[in-house]
Amino acid sequence: MQTIRKISESIIYVGGDDRRTALFEGVYPIPNGVTYNSYLILDEKTCLMDTVDKSIVEGWLENLEYALGGRALDYVVVHHMEPDHSYSLMRLLEKYPNAQIVTNKKVLDMIVQFFNVDVSVRAVVVAEGSSLSLGKHELTFTMAPMVHWPEVMMSYEKAEKVMFTADAFGTFGALGGAIFADEVDFERDYLDEARRYYANIVGKYGVQVKAVLAKAAKLDIAAICPLHGPVWRENLGLILDKYTKWAAYEPEEKGVCIVYGSIYGHTENMAMALAVKLRERGVKTRVIDSSVSHVSEIVAAAFRYDRLVFASASYNGGAFVKMEDALHDLMAHAFQNRRVAIMQNGSWAPSAANTLKKILEGAKNVELIESVVTAKSALKPEQESELDALADELAK
Ligand SMILES: Cc1cc2nc3c(=O)[nH]c(=O)nc-3n(C[C@H](O)[C@H](O)[C@H](O)COP(=O)(O)O)c2cc1C
Ligand SMILES: [Fe+2]
Ligand SMILES: [Fe+2]
Repeated sequence: MQTIRKISESIIYVGGDDRRTALFEGVYPIPNGVTYNSYLILDEKTCLMDTVDKSIVEGWLENLEYALGGRALDYVVVHHMEPDHSYSLMRLLEKYPNAQIVTNKKVLDMIVQFFNVDVSVRAVVVAEGSSLSLGKHELTFTMAPMVHWPEVMMSYEKAEKVMFTADAFGTFGALGGAIFADEVDFERDYLDEARRYYANIVGKYGVQVKAVLAKAAKLDIAAICPLHGPVWRENLGLILDKYTKWAAYEPEEKGVCIVYGSIYGHTENMAMALAVKLRERGVKTRVIDSSVSHVSEIVAAAFRYDRLVFASASYNGGAFVKMEDALHDLMAHAFQNRRVAIMQNGSWAPSAANTLKKILEGAKNVELIESVVTAKSALKPEQESELDALADELAK
């Protein structure tokens, strides 16, 4: 049975939910699933916007066949070659031998890399500003390099003012039939996952995202159709505002996120003692245990809050392994523009602070609070004034 939905009279959603993949891209836990979106435009010509991951290929082919209603497929637009979308491209091309591939040169080269076939004989090669008429509908293509790979492009459909944005504006989370953001409580149920998706998947490429947002600002956009998560047709400002902040590495909120790494619990106690003192000063806090939460949660929190505290036990002359991992991952996602404090613990030669400081050295515009609170095995009652001083400094 097909599971399609109409975006409009002539644009049909033929993608689907994946609730069984445990790790997206082999790294990111997706307990709420994910969608791989694919859209069919029906006009004088029929045009499919992207293919899907291997996990949903059979249902998607069924959806597409049903949505076509016996018509041939004229075009498939490939916006992004990452296999979560393009794994099924060859299946599509075999099933619809007369369909032409509409894409850019970089994608064609990647098709050869991935599938060892040259499809240029059936390709319509587009570049920045190229258009393709489908009848009443007309697509205009714009390149979006590094949002999320170098070959990525987006397209704008003029008649219905729809922007197809590839991975941009995507989110983790299956949709259960609610394919429009206005059909769910997005801020309550999806925003955290949209942030985790953005920060970890595209977060490193803020400059490139900004460039695409600037191009999009010149267009009259009624709907955003991303490759993951819901379609935006109302209140586009909500997601555009988030993207504007995220792309500029501007914090969304004032608050201190304390990330700790603790073997036996004494560093955890330091983190909690600081959290309590911050709350007493009216400061919003969030505490994350690096041993329990996935590192992608830490990267997402770093995009959200304006201040971060890293509290770590010492470990083999360095910092606790999960904390080192977390900070390396933050740096890999262009961590910047934040105030940071460090706390450490060690039983013989505390070494965590130095290690974490070194990792943060190259970070752009990170203001490191100089004083480091150090515990020797456990924080002593007489060190309370040190915690108070740090809380005061962070509350400023
Ligand atoms: C594998 C391992 C390596 C450690 N390496 C160091 C070290 O290099 N320097 C140090 O001062 N303490 C080291 N420690 C001790 C812990 O950092 C110390 O006991 C700390 O107080 C633990 O804090 P916690 O209670 O939050 O786990 C190590 C402990 C373990 C288990
Ligand atoms: Fe991607
Ligand atoms: Fe994707």
